[in-house]
Amino acid sequence: MRSDATRAHYDRLAGTYEENWIYSPALIEWTTEGIVQRLRPTSTTVVLDVGCGTGLYSRGLAVHAKAVVCADPSEGMLSHLPADERLVPLRAGAEDIVAGRVPLPYDSYDAILLKEVVHHLPDLPATLAGLTRLLRPGGRFLVSMLPQDLGYPLFDAALRLFRRLQPDPGTVAGALTDAGLDVEISYDGFPVTFTRERYIEMVRGRYMSILSTFSDAELERGIDEIRGRYPGPDIRFAEPVAFVLGVRR
Ligand SMILES: C[S@@+](CC[C@H](N)C(=O)[O-])C[C@H]1O[C@@H](n2cnc3c(N)ncnc32)[C@H](O)[C@@H]1O
Repeated sequence: MRSDATRAHYDRLAGTYEENWIYSPALIEWTTEGIVQRLRPTSTTVVLDVGCGTGLYSRGLAVHAKAVVCADPSEGMLSHLPADERLVPLRAGAEDIVAGRVPLPYDSYDAILLKEVVHHLPDLPATLAGLTRLLRPGGRFLVSMLPQDLGYPLFDAALRLFRRLQPDPGTVAGALTDAGLDVEISYDGFPVTFTRERYIEMVRGRYMSILSTFSDAELERGIDEIRGRYPGPDIRFAEPVAFVLGVRR
């Protein structure tokens, strides 16, 4: 999707974004814990959460940090940030930050988070390298992303499209290494259960941005495929995550 189309997608989604996942507060908690363990925020830490969305994970970081700068190009998503003086909204995309097109609340950062955002960055190596330049010595850079093989109960065409568009965590790790960081990748998964109808409503609501590329008719055919494959009342799967952590020595 082009950047204006992506922004429109998230502006449209903003009001219901959290309903998709709030269904499982345990998942948010588990993911937040994985992020906090890796970024290790303390009361002096200044965090930059790039593509923060509604701040689902900025909030958990702000509990420990001095401040979390919450950057996102979608005004709609940012408008759902909770009022908290440690959450500093910044309407900007990663590329705006790297190009210096927006004044930043802080010149440098102890921790940078990109959670479910790298697939929106057309020039991944340049953007990651540019963000890395904002990292203080000893700073930690975490990319949290879905692996290419999702294992989601989606229809085949969506899974194929996702695999084609989603960057490989290895490529992200390579870009952070080239930018001068010491990098490690870890994989994990959290078991989730949805009623089938709830999951189908999420698909119909295009809860993932790739679903926006399917027409209503294509989506309904995909939903028929899901119904055929999952005849029972519930759908269980593991919500997968790849953590790519880079540290500036
Ligand atoms: C899937 S949401 C993730 C939001 C949040 N990080 C989370 O995990 O809940 C992707 C977010 O990336 C933002 N985004 C899209 N393109 C971006 C870009 N070029 N730079 C920074 N953020 C971008 C979208 O507006 C959206 O809020």
